[in-house]
Amino acid sequence: MKARLSELPVGVFDSGVGGLTVLAALRDLLPAEDFLYLGDTARVPYGTKSAESVSRYAVQAAGALVRRGIKMLVVACNTASAVSIDCLQECYQPLPVIGVVRPGAKAACCASASGNIAVIATESTVNGGAYKCAIENLRPDANVISAPCQLFVSLAEEGWGSGDIAEAVARRYLEPLFQRFGEDGPDSLVLGCTHFPVLQQALESVAGPNVRLVDSAKTTAQEVERILCGAGLCREKERQGRVNFMATDCAGRFAKVGSSFLGEAISAEDVEIIDL
Ligand code: DGL
Repeated sequence: MKARLSELPVGVFDSGVGGLTVLAALRDLLPAEDFLYLGDTARVPYGTKSAESVSRYAVQAAGALVRRGIKMLVVACNTASAVSIDCLQECYQPLPVIGVVRPGAKAACCASASGNIAVIATESTVNGGAYKCAIENLRPDANVISAPCQLFVSLAEEGWGSGDIAEAVARRYLEPLFQRFGEDGPDSLVLGCTHFPVLQQALESVAGPNVRLVDSAKTTAQEVERILCGAGLCREKERQGRVNFMATDCAGRFAKVGSSFLGEAISAEDVEIIDL
């Protein structure tokens, strides 16, 4: 039974193409694994929707992956992780289900010396307070202040992740956020949204050398590896894993924008359109 289960892909879902930054980290660390990626491109963005809608979408997306056969589910979307991870874990047990918020919170606690931690994310993620709660659970002395930065999502998808415009927008969002920490400022900045690693350069140049950027993708990949190995579900190392892509709309746009997020070419013909 274990041998057959280990041959199944790892399911990864996101509201759209953003989760491909997480998939890239997963493939880097686990090259022998197969992945089944679903982007809910018909309903993106999740970040401006109510928690009720996002939870409903997340359960539908997870259901579609589970029906195809997966050995683990990774909720790559920060907004969906923030509002629905407990519900998904309960719904699909004993399937291992992990989100990106708790691994991101863990990475932030490791990165921060002072405990002054700034979090940027979508409106829904910030409003629900999931990062603040997850960080304070691990580190009760932390001073966590969050700000929604919704415009970064559009900039990243437009391919304007670096340069003057990205830096101007980053300044507009980060300066007031950093001022809220007082004189010391934050020493870490959590990128609490799948799209924000695309703006890394602009964020680094505005945040300055004393602030460490924390990207949950790598820590999430490490957590997936730990869970798969612990359950005896890893693929044999000698093989090269495959990725199958599914989206709920616009295969062409998924392939075009998604290629830059993944860091490798995706062909529109390889994107299966499904209905949730
Ligand atoms: N994937 C979403 C997240 O990480 C960003 C895009 C959206 O708003 O759906 O929160």
